[in-house]
Parts: sequence; structure tokens; C-alpha cells
Amino acid sequence: DTKVSIPSIIQSKKEGRKLVMITAYDYPFGLMADEAGVDMVLVGDSLGMVVLGLDGTVPVTLEMMIHHIQAVVRGCKGPLVVGDMPFMTYNTGIRDAIINAGRLMKEGGCDAVKLEGGVDFAPVVQAIVKAGIPVQGHIGLTPQTASALGGFKMQGKDASAARRIVEDAKALEAAGVFSIVAEAVPAPLGRLIAETVSVPVIGIGAGVDVDGQVLVTHDMVGLFDRFVPKFVKQYTKIRPTIIDAIKSYGEEVRTSAFPAPEHSFSMPDETLAAVKK
Ligand code: KIV
Ligand code: NA
Repeated sequence: DTKVSIPSIIQSKKEGRKLVMITAYDYPFGLMADEAGVDMVLVGDSLGMVVLGLDGTVPVTLEMMIHHIQAVVRGCKGPLVVGDMPFMTYNTGIRDAIINAGRLMKEGGCDAVKLEGGVDFAPVVQAIVKAGIPVQGHIGLTPQTASALGGFKMQGKDASAARRIVEDAKALEAAGVFSIVAEAVPAPLGRLIAETVSVPVIGIGAGVDVDGQVLVTHDMVGLFDRFVPKFVKQYTKIRPTIIDAIKSYGEEVRTSAFPAPEHSFSMPDETLAAVKK
């Protein structure tokens, strides 16, 4: 299969072709996303919550991201792979941001990076893009700063807050992003953002009138269900299937029903006899 390119992502908006993006954190999920034919795979810092059991995305480090991006990239030959920049790897200055974005790309092997923020981070985005690293923006609900936003809740509720989010999108476009993730905003605002900028707007809880959608795979398949946001659709619930399989295995181990002869290696009787001699 052919590799999805940055120009083809930008072009898709002009052609009215909706973009499909999901997250992956390891090799098997990278392979499955590739086989399912998505356009973009995000190695999100949601890694912290859905894979590492951390409280949020704040504790996720650059080293964790590099480790998981490497695994995803090994399985993901077709989709464009985007790696999240963790909290405080781009917030401390332009030089730090370029170096750390470069490490995600050079050591991790992703095709682009994503970072959270709008107007305030446009200079950082512009510098990374000028260094030759494609950047995806992320506005609306920005989980790394959820504490400052007052929790994981919808953003852009009143006119001034909504206007600020539109300004964020414009600033990111001017800074050179190739697309923008818009999270947890009212559907009409999602539509307005998508109509305002020329780059694709990828929604997550931003309604249907945007240029594509992204979901956390572990939410979408019911692999992580401790908290299911309103904007998540569970297309399947694989936790019970896996738990049942582990229970059956446990039962069969305890009753010696497993392993059966077909799961065991045989040895000729005479060989065994010779061993015992
Ligand atoms: O980390 C992540 O999975 C994300 C998506 C929710 C967009 O940033
Ligand atoms: Na993220």
C-alpha cells in the first residue's frame, strides 16, 4: 500500500473527502490500523491513561512517546503517523520544542508531531514547521492543560470563548500546520472552525461538519471503559471477550484440560526409555 502524504491530507479537504484517524500505541494496533485503511494514526499521549494506567497525560515523557511511536511505526506502513509532544516538551521555549519534535521524528520515526495550543503556541509551531517537521495543531479541550481549563469539559461555550477558539485555529493555520484537531466543542463551532481555515479540521467531539474524525482506539473498541466521554462511540466491547478468554484458560489450567495433546510436543517411547536408562 502507498504511504499517505502531508499534501494528500491537505488535498482531501479540497476534494471533500473525510479523513479517518485513530490512535495506536503498539505494533499490533499499528498493524490493525494499517490493515483497516485509516488515513492517519496518532500515537497520542492518551497513552498515559489507556495503556500505562496513569492519571492523565501530564506525566507522559518524551522517552515513553519515542518507545511507543517506534512500535507503531513498525506496523504502520500506509497511514501517516503523528506523534504527540508531551506536556513540557514544547512549552519551555522554541529551541526545546524543535529539539524534542526532532527526537520524536528521528528516534521515534513518526511523520509529523502534534502539540496542544492556539494563539499562544503559534510561534512554537511556526519554528518547528520551519525546521522541517510537519505539525498538527490541537485546540478546544486540551487535556494537558485540563486542570487550567477546569476539567475535561466542553470548550467554547459562550461567544467570546468560541471566538478565541476560532482565533486559535487561524493562528495555527498562519503558523503552517497541515491540520488541526478540535476537541470537545459545540458542533456548530466545529463547523465554523472548519469553514474558517483551509487546512483539514479533525474533530473529536466537534460534530459531523468537520473534515475528519479521530477517536482513541481503546475507547472505540471498549478496551478501556473506566471513563467513556460523551463523544465516544463504542463500536465493539472487547474487554468482556478477553476477560472470558482468560477465565476459560484459568479454568482449563486448573482442571488440566489445557494443554491438550495437540498443544504438546511428543517424544518417541524409545527415546524416553533411553533418557531414563
Ligand atoms: O492523545 C490523544 O489520543 C489525542 C486525541 C484524543 C486527539 O490527543
Ligand atoms: Na493527546
